[in-house]
Amino acid sequence: MKTTEIRIIVSEFQTIDELPENDRLLLREARRITALAYAPYSGFHVGAAVLLGNGKIITGNNQENSAYPSGLCAERVALFYANANYPHSEVKAIAISAAKNGVLVNEPVKPCGSCRQALAEAEVRFESPIRVILDGQDSIMVLDSVESLLPLSFSKKDLASPNPSKGVEFV
Ligand code: THU
Repeated sequence: MKTTEIRIIVSEFQTIDELPENDRLLLREARRITALAYAPYSGFHVGAAVLLGNGKIITGNNQENSAYPSGLCAERVALFYANANYPHSEVKAIAISAAKNGVLVNEPVKPCGSCRQALAEAEVRFESPIRVILDGQDSIMVLDSVESLLPLSFSKKDLASPNPSKGVEFV
């Protein structure tokens, strides 16, 4: 038996004005698009802004549906649009904001598990870490990679055929 410790590093800022300029611009875009979310069922408005390697910023917000599971989170709306239109441009960063009743959430907004998985795919696909900026009134969190948000994630490496010489058969 062996034990491994996995550590993540989270930087916290008190206000948007303390952020480095690129992060500040991206977060402003996330805040702007949050206000345009379609969230009549939850009343929880989320906005995401994705910075690409080509310099473009792509925004998205949550799109809900009366058939609840047919809706989609802000992060994936933005990410999938970016990947669909700029398949050769790596994702550099994503800023996420959220508001309830028009007021920015207190704690930094946390992306759901499915969005973390989708972001992890982009990180592996482009072999480039994605900076993550999570907005909140109490603080703004910044992480250097999605791997920090989703350690031990499932990825294309896990789909490879196992080495038969190890000899453990699944019956
Ligand atoms: N939501 C997002 O857009 N992103 C997240 O990471 C968390 C949740 C949306 C989905 C749904 O429209 C609403 O917030 C409430 O869950």
